[in-house]
Amino acid sequence: MKAVLIPGDGIGKEISESILQITEALRLDIDWVTYQAGADYALAHGELFEPGLLEAIKEYKWALKGPTATPIGTGFRSVNVALRQYFETYANVRPVKSLVGIASRYEFIDLVTIRENTEDLYKGIEYKVNDNMANGVKLITREASEKICRYAFEYTRKHNRNKVTAVHKANIMKLTDGLFLEAYREVAKDYPEIQTQEIIVDNMCMQLVLYPEKYDVLVAPNLYGDIISDLCAGLVGGLGFAPSANIGDDYHIYEAAHGSAPDIAGKNIANPSALILSFVMMLEALGEENAAQKIKDALNMVVKEGVKTTPDIGGQATTTEFTQAIINKIQAGR
Ligand code: NAI
Repeated sequence: MKAVLIPGDGIGKEISESILQITEALRLDIDWVTYQAGADYALAHGELFEPGLLEAIKEYKWALKGPTATPIGTGFRSVNVALRQYFETYANVRPVKSLVGIASRYEFIDLVTIRENTEDLYKGIEYKVNDNMANGVKLITREASEKICRYAFEYTRKHNRNKVTAVHKANIMKLTDGLFLEAYREVAKDYPEIQTQEIIVDNMCMQLVLYPEKYDVLVAPNLYGDIISDLCAGLVGGLGFAPSANIGDDYHIYEAAHGSAPDIAGKNIANPSALILSFVMMLEALGEENAAQKIKDALNMVVKEGVKTTPDIGGQATTTEFTQAIINKIQAGR
């Protein structure tokens, strides 16, 4: 099959190389078609995407994306937000799981954040009232809220999980977050075997830090989902191991949750794990569970041994050496 690979900015090129190497080593039936997008491309060409990128995703339906940089407070729109809205990938799925060998404050974390991915304050409806006042519109619809809540309950059922917690701030945003909660309650009726729970977002942050083991699947509007999913990544040692998936009815775009890490770009020391685990999610969704499991096991072994790991997790290996160590484990297991 053909799939689109978007290396992106900064460390994106280095960690995408790991994907190409693993695909080849496992002789997977994926023919990557590479397209450029992001800040580097925009600076050079005045456009966010290389021509043909959108058409390629339309045709092949599956894509894996490295991080792309976005200017803060000014400049062009985020490539991520643009792709999510264009392809209506309404569900952003971000699982986090404790890994042996990764230092973190908690041991047995296994959480999934399911974030609405197309609306809320990310709709980009902002305007200046005058020089001293700007306004942003928080757009929440029943349709998108029901869709994401149903996705969360279906995900929970499919993965034999137990509970879906809705994260909101409906005590203050009574209409917008109130509508989201209404949709959650309505959808929950169709899943009587799954526990439900509603938590205000500020309390959610505190509870996740104090008692992360009490939570299972979290469903949230776009902005809260963005924030709590990074918090969850922090619970298992940071963004280096946080994969994500943007899922729509027709399109699937997988991406590492971290950014382009400009401080270490070009040094060949980036940790490719988050992109590799995003690739694993993609393989699982494609029904390639066997290959996905092999890659996951090999990655876990390399991390647990701690010999060929990258500096962010206390090692001294390069991205290339780390990737090769994973490939060696896969090949040794054949
Ligand atoms: P960042 O995630 O790029 O970096 C934060 C810190 O984590 C840095 O010290 C970096 O070196 C480290 N880090 C991140 N990924 C790493 C990896 N794979 N291996 C080792 N260390 C890693 O976040 P930052 O600095 O806030 O954002 C940089 C740029 O990335 C911004 O332009 C931002 O808009 C963009 N970004 C893009 C995302 C995406 O495309 N999905 C997500 C988040 C940020």
